[in-house]
Amino acid sequence: MDILFCTSEAYPLVKTGGLADVSASLPRALAKPGNDVRLVLPAYPEAVERAGELTTVARLGLEGADGVVEILQGRFPDSEVTLYLVDSPQHFRRRGNPYLQADGRDWPDNAERFALFARAIVAIARGALDSGWQPELVHCNDWQTGLVAPLLRSHTPRPAVLFTIHNLAYQGLFPRQTFTRLGLPATLWSMDGLEFHDQLSFLKGGLVFADWLSTVSPTYAREICTPAFGCGLDGLLKHRSDRLSGILNGMDCVEWNPSTDPFLERNYTVRTLQHKADNKAALQAETGLHADRGRLLLGFIGRLVEQKAIDLVLEALDSLFEHPFQLVVLGSGERRFETRLRHAAERFPGQLAVHIGYDEGLAHRIEAGADCLLMPSRYEPCGLNQLYSLRYGTVPIVHRTGGLADSVVDHTEETAADYTATGFVFEQDTSAAMLEACLRALSCFESSRVDWWKLVITGMRQDFCWASSAARYLDLYIHVCNLVRAEMLEVEQPLRQLNV
Ligand code: ADP
Ligand code: GLC
Repeated sequence: MDILFCTSEAYPLVKTGGLADVSASLPRALAKPGNDVRLVLPAYPEAVERAGELTTVARLGLEGADGVVEILQGRFPDSEVTLYLVDSPQHFRRRGNPYLQADGRDWPDNAERFALFARAIVAIARGALDSGWQPELVHCNDWQTGLVAPLLRSHTPRPAVLFTIHNLAYQGLFPRQTFTRLGLPATLWSMDGLEFHDQLSFLKGGLVFADWLSTVSPTYAREICTPAFGCGLDGLLKHRSDRLSGILNGMDCVEWNPSTDPFLERNYTVRTLQHKADNKAALQAETGLHADRGRLLLGFIGRLVEQKAIDLVLEALDSLFEHPFQLVVLGSGERRFETRLRHAAERFPGQLAVHIGYDEGLAHRIEAGADCLLMPSRYEPCGLNQLYSLRYGTVPIVHRTGGLADSVVDHTEETAADYTATGFVFEQDTSAAMLEACLRALSCFESSRVDWWKLVITGMRQDFCWASSAARYLDLYIHVCNLVRAEMLEVEQPLRQLNV
């Protein structure tokens, strides 16, 4: 199959979160003989620098660009995947976060930037490259690629479009005037189009016009069809639920492998688990925690936003530290959470370590050195850290939602007995429920070493590498292409009979 995978971030070229991990590892997993997978993203300066050798393979005149937009071609690092970078200096030649300015606010022209990106993708999909290559399927991801489906829709023949929701809460909403300024076809301004409560919604473009929708776990696929998780779009999603799939993300098992991970103090496998303790000691030393193997060391890694429920962790600290816990937090995000965390770290020296910022190496060392990973997220479309922690023998403590519910099996008498338990799961998103789960973990850690190691080993034996999820994507691609071909034939046959 010929697939064009469209994304606004892909590790190691540019990363703000899990979308970058998935955009790197899914195309790599799909790029097997018989599949031609090509990845397209904006030509941010860091991406251009990290991409290696690039050549210009198209020069396009696109609406919304003052000059010529060049499509640069290279190879995505460590893969057979062809890389395209959309080079429009006015839109993308800026350093730092791809969506935010240095002060944390959105770039004021994000609508123009990602409308231009969509127009470039549509041009590529319609054969504008010098080589004339055209995909059979365009796989769009999140709101930044939301305009691709509506802009491609009016062309026949056209490739099929799959739109994947990684996080419904980020919708790409802009004032109505932006719609006019972008020069989008007037017919798209309606409740059944891009309008969302009198605003322009990029996300709705994908949700309404893509041939098929998917999201990153089966549970989240069900959750987003309900008012509690639907962000106002549950009605539309329910309406489209016959074309909505939930496929659990896989993980990059080369990048995240405790037996080869170059960031670790000491590598280990399920057979040399005793070496995990060296990583715990090193992490305690690195982050200024008391050197104490007997304390249960919790790790938290993530964006400091409401979704990740860091506020529940902050609320629970006093009660938590009445027990032999330690906690290391790595994250960045909203200032209010960063400030509260810094203050908390001063109150609990040796027990709480806070690292504000983005640090790939430390993320790996926490996954290896902690005893448990804490993920109390209010909602979590998939979540990758709990997959990494399972592989690293670090027991996840998670809220039962989205991909967390789909990847962690709660420790109960039965699941412990039949060797299926992999972590501790709590039902309510309250700090009391989270604390209770932490205490269950502590009790297991302290009182029943056999049960504890069973949990660790069962977790490490889970297989969340991409193979099976990538196979599901491929089946879905084939299904959607067939569907679109059939739909086009349904239009074309009567037309032919009419001789028009
Ligand atoms: P989300 O995409 O919602 O942020 P995921 O769990 O899917 O959540 O993915 C988050 C990814 O970003 C993981 O690879 C995680 O290790 C990484 N990450 C998040 N915050 C940081 C940080 N401060 N430093 C290093 N890596 C981080
Ligand atoms: C989003 C979600 C996260 C998911 C990631 C990759 O950022 O918040 O749960 O793992 O996308 O799909």
